Amino acid sequence: MHMEIAYYLAGPFRELVTMQALPLKGALKDSALRIIRNGGILWKEGWIEAVDDFETLASRPGVTVMEQMIKGVVLPGFIDMHTHLAFGGSRAADFALRNSGSTYLEIAESGGGIWSTVKATRALTIEALAALTAQRANALLQQGVTTIEVKSGYGLSVAEELKCLRAIAEARRITGASLVATCLAAHMLPADFNGSVAAYLELMVNELLPVIKEEQLARRVDAFIERSAFSAAQILPYFKSAKAMGFDITVHADQFTPSGTEVAITVGARSADHLEHSTDKEIALLAHADVAAVALPGASMGLGCKFAPVRKLLDAGCSVAIATDWNPGSAPMGNLMLQASVLASFEKLTNAEVLAAITYRAAAALGFKDRGVLAPGYRADFIVYDADSYQEIPYQQGRLQPAQVWKSGARIV
Ligand code: NIG
Ligand code: FE
Repeated sequence: MHMEIAYYLAGPFRELVTMQALPLKGALKDSALRIIRNGGILWKEGWIEAVDDFETLASRPGVTVMEQMIKGVVLPGFIDMHTHLAFGGSRAADFALRNSGSTYLEIAESGGGIWSTVKATRALTIEALAALTAQRANALLQQGVTTIEVKSGYGLSVAEELKCLRAIAEARRITGASLVATCLAAHMLPADFNGSVAAYLELMVNELLPVIKEEQLARRVDAFIERSAFSAAQILPYFKSAKAMGFDITVHADQFTPSGTEVAITVGARSADHLEHSTDKEIALLAHADVAAVALPGASMGLGCKFAPVRKLLDAGCSVAIATDWNPGSAPMGNLMLQASVLASFEKLTNAEVLAAITYRAAAALGFKDRGVLAPGYRADFIVYDADSYQEIPYQQGRLQPAQVWKSGARIV
């Protein structure tokens, strides 16, 4: 008997939303979505071979049809491309303070905010931090999020940042989701650092980034450009050094005051994230650059601030991704579809724009060419909803959860 190559087939699905052949940038009409009715996904060793009419695929020789499929709506696994899952403690006290009149920046400047999470995170062992990170990643996985970016940034010393990044690496072994690590050592100047901002950033370039490269702990570097954190002028040399070392750059930009977007453009970052206070100037800059614009509606909801101007960004021609920003300070919710749907209601986003922002546009912003679309050559990462139409998914504002989650051709939820 000769060895059969194992081809697996899932389906038939009522609606297979492929996200194929859509533009990377700009506004999208729902009518542009390529939806296959009674479609199937055929894969081999975790990679998609074909996406087509189910019966056509089933007639191929040597195909194993997966059992217990439901005839629902299928989408590519979602991508949450901006989170801070590796943290200890809670900031419930900050939430109460803010809702009693203090601002995020006031709390940060009086020693609370990020610094209090740094203390709680430093108090954890690497194992405990890995377990918390994996637990949160698994909560996202239940929502259909199969790829999750996770930032460090609550360590803020060479040793503690390495601990955070090693905990993310450890969490990768526990969760079924793909975790993409980012170094956010430039989250704020740590209160216990004995020296200038320039000295801190130099230390990170000389002592931290080389170890991250050596151990392959992250391939991305982020910084928070804001009044209570770092100025554009302080961060530019840091980003230039990181880029020269081969890191991809991403920026916390324009959250409370504009300035980060210009830095993102100057250094050729992959993305500028937040953008709540971007003006027409920043929107035009992003539209003409190869820098993704990332909306984080969970931070707007957590802080009670306005949303990023996503309608304007799309109409100007930007590539927009949406992410949860899950973190203990500004965005403790961690529900991607809820946040994307609420943003859609306020900013008037089409379903296609919402889905693009958490699939192939998010993938592109992370530099991935292998996910976010259901097409040959992509990973067999897909999610199945028990629903009649894909429109139900944003419409139900996060209440409808996928019935099945598949990662690289294996069912994990
Ligand atoms: O993306 N803005 C900076 N960083 C996080 C919040 C961090 C925190 O408050 O702990 C954010 O909103
Ligand atoms: Fe963030």
